[in-house]
Amino acid sequence: MNYAEAKKMLDKCGQGHVLAWWNKLSKKGQNALIEQVGKIDPKSLAYCQKALKAGTTAIDNSKGKAPKVAVLKGKKLADAVALGEKELKAGRVAALLVAGGQGSRLGYDGPKGCYSIGPITGAPLFYFHARKILARTIRYGRTIPFYVMTSEANNEATIRCFEENEYFGLNPKDVFFFTQGMWPGMTQDGKIIMDAPGHVFMSPDGHGGLLAALKRSGALADMKKRGIRSVFFFQVDNPLVEIADPAFIGYHVANKSEYSLKLCAKRDPYEKVGMPMQFGKTFRMVEYTEMTKEQCERKGRDGKLYFLYGSPAIHVFDRAFLEREAGKPMPLHLAFKKIPFVDAKGKVVKPSEPNGYKFEKFIFDVLPNARRAAFLAFEQKDEFSPVKNAEGDDSPATCKADMQAKWRRWLAEAGVAVKAGVPVEIDPAYALDAADIKSIGIALGAE
Ligand code: UD1
Repeated sequence: MNYAEAKKMLDKCGQGHVLAWWNKLSKKGQNALIEQVGKIDPKSLAYCQKALKAGTTAIDNSKGKAPKVAVLKGKKLADAVALGEKELKAGRVAALLVAGGQGSRLGYDGPKGCYSIGPITGAPLFYFHARKILARTIRYGRTIPFYVMTSEANNEATIRCFEENEYFGLNPKDVFFFTQGMWPGMTQDGKIIMDAPGHVFMSPDGHGGLLAALKRSGALADMKKRGIRSVFFFQVDNPLVEIADPAFIGYHVANKSEYSLKLCAKRDPYEKVGMPMQFGKTFRMVEYTEMTKEQCERKGRDGKLYFLYGSPAIHVFDRAFLEREAGKPMPLHLAFKKIPFVDAKGKVVKPSEPNGYKFEKFIFDVLPNARRAAFLAFEQKDEFSPVKNAEGDDSPATCKADMQAKWRRWLAEAGVAVKAGVPVEIDPAYALDAADIKSIGIALGAE
């Protein structure tokens, strides 16, 4: 793209102001701006403007019902595990991580996956994810390709983290990084916000940007080439997640599901997790912010919360479903934020109040499109303890405590007592569960 082409495109979209400071920019600055404008798709601009006009009209969730959630035990659990193991041994399972978010609540600047969480080693979040994938690969004798979605802001640092750590033992050929899209920020009247005279304010397009990015990057084609059928999706902030857990994979396959969700009982009525609800024959994820007080507190006949099972964002997708959805437009969610902007004199202003919109797509918005969906319950203490905030709930402190409590339970199950107060950390490639510890035997730290 050159200046004339950029101007034509921007004028046509009513965004001519993007080039307002052109003559004041250095040659390098001009080139950078043209490169940025070249990446903006006019169709996506129109899509954002349409979303702005429509506004955030609240969807009526009052008719939502709690979906049927399976709790697997005994033979049913054993059958699901056997089927999941068959999938893993056939090499039909991939792991898919969304790690493009900005970690602003945690107050951490780098990619969240590089955040140190190992209670003893200080190993990063990526380490625990990658080592689990390695352990399952070794256990089942087949590769689980690992697809990692980053954003422009953290892609290089993410790849560097993997390289510096020798991919945590994984084969680099089986790790596929791909970058999600970015949307420009806009004012209420649909004008692109410039955060410097030669720079458009852009932000990641949400984890729903995954679908387009999977397609664009060739990751979907790579999955197909490798014969992948089930895609295990997880978020970067939860080191307790049991990646490619055979019970979940097996349950998903047995149900011929296109989109399966692991759910856990909420700790309290207001826990900040999404809630899948049933509307007639389809399902939809209702965010915690969209639930009324009555819905949050409603009790079922058994005296428990009616909307008991929330989503920790642990999913299994059928690959063909992802392919089908990848070409379709997704709804946009608007976030009203404080966005730095250039004033009439070309000065950068940091507003003290929200002044513009960021646009995001959410992956779970494809749930209503699934021909079949399945919901499986699990124990929160075993698989979900995200690092979201610097302090308090869902912080590094609570997560490290939960990781250690889980490892202590495994050690106790294997007959290894650990003195109170002794820190515990287990490399997932050493032991994936209590059974692994039993079979290896551990003496270290035992009384
Ligand atoms: C999310 C879910 C919520 C769920 C909870 C469980 C949303 C809107 N809500 O909440 O239903 O119960 O997790 O922990 O997602 N990400 C990207 N690109 C982006 C934005 C995010 O890759 O543009 C990734 C992040 O790196 C992270 C994940 O998506 O791995 C979740 O993002 P986050 O903003 O932390 O979601 P929550 O609001 O905590």
